[in-house]
Amino acid sequence: MQQTLIILKPSTVQRGLVGEVIDRFQKKGLIIAGIKMMQLGDEILREHYAHLVDKPFFPSLLKSMQATPVIVMCLRGVDVVEVVRAMIGATNSRKAAPGTIRGDYGMSGQENIVHASDSPENAEIEVRRFFAPGEIFDYSPVTLSATYAADELK
Ligand code: TYD
Repeated sequence: MQQTLIILKPSTVQRGLVGEVIDRFQKKGLIIAGIKMMQLGDEILREHYAHLVDKPFFPSLLKSMQATPVIVMCLRGVDVVEVVRAMIGATNSRKAAPGTIRGDYGMSGQENIVHASDSPENAEIEVRRFFAPGEIFDYSPVTLSATYAADELK
């Protein structure tokens, strides 16, 4: 089953929205394969946001992502990368559609609640970046047969 990397950002931790955001992913039917709290250092953030290091807002992004520890999660589901990107909405929370996580909980482009991998290839890289192999668990919840039709589970 496909997996994706989620980061609940420091603003989400500070605002007490961790439980609410995780609840939305769980109610959707996604499986938590890994979850932990960690303080992000410069090195991992420069790697994670390598496509943005030259942007003028990068120093501010770095500071924002280090304001408190974050919650990192590995979620599993069929087509989970695409499903979660649709659930979180546009990067700028003010432009994210109501009903999306950023659209419902955020007012900022930078303090935008959550990170989620943008492709299955990046998801694999990002899960390996934030989790050791022993921190990711492969199990089948008993609810799986009520969440998917049998032919959807390859
Ligand atoms: P990006 O990878 O473009 O978006 P997404 O998080 O939706 O995949 O940007 C990464 C983060 O950088 C984004 O979540 C918030 C921050 N950011 C800014 O602070 N200002 C900006 O103008 C952009 C584009 C991103």
